[in-house]
Amino acid sequence: MRVLGISGSLRRGSHNRRLLRAAAGLLPPEAELVLFEGLKAIPPFDEDDEGIPALAVRDWREAITDADALLFSTPEYNSSIPGQLKNAIDWASRPITTAALRNKPSAVIGASTGMFGAIWAQAELRKALAAAGARVIDRDLPVAGADEAFNADGTLVEHDQALELDGILVDLLAQADQHAGPGWTPIGVQSERNTLLSASQRD
Ligand code: FNR
Repeated sequence: MRVLGISGSLRRGSHNRRLLRAAAGLLPPEAELVLFEGLKAIPPFDEDDEGIPALAVRDWREAITDADALLFSTPEYNSSIPGQLKNAIDWASRPITTAALRNKPSAVIGASTGMFGAIWAQAELRKALAAAGARVIDRDLPVAGADEAFNADGTLVEHDQALELDGILVDLLAQADQHAGPGWTPIGVQSERNTLLSASQRD
């Protein structure tokens, strides 16, 4: 099962990219997280360009279509989501009947250096994704004080946050599992994985 990870931040040292890497480390062996690297190249949405969208837009839509599930990690810019991320969602929401985001299992997490962990941005992002027809998990993960939130090995410092992230991934994979139908081996190892995570975090 393929999970496409999308960081709403474009900068190289992004905490949100680190959060996606932490999520990758929690996935079961039968799932992989692939980071989407083409966000910056997506041009501004223009209905006049919909007939022949840019290659970057086609790549973005194809990456979504090829994924079984989407995991967004967003920073908060002025109490909302970064403009470039919203722009990309607008492109992937069209044309409405065949939109790449339509029915796509999706989850949203986020990190910010502030006190609230991009909580408003995550709510806004879930709203936009739902409006575009995605199947959005109704959970969030606000990672506040992001400068101090990660261990040197990339894992989350806070045990409760790691458990919450694990729970979101379990829900996301279950949603993707339902969506994929026959041919995919069900996940169903949540309690075992949580136990393993608890043990490793205690060490
Ligand atoms: C921010 N930041 C921020 N943080 C927050 O919690 N609420 C906010 O409204 C804002 N607004 C804001 C606007 C702009 C233009 C910038 C550049 C930054 C801080 C921001 O969340 C923080 O820098 C994150 O660390 C950015 O995410 P990455 O790049 O580390 O993934």
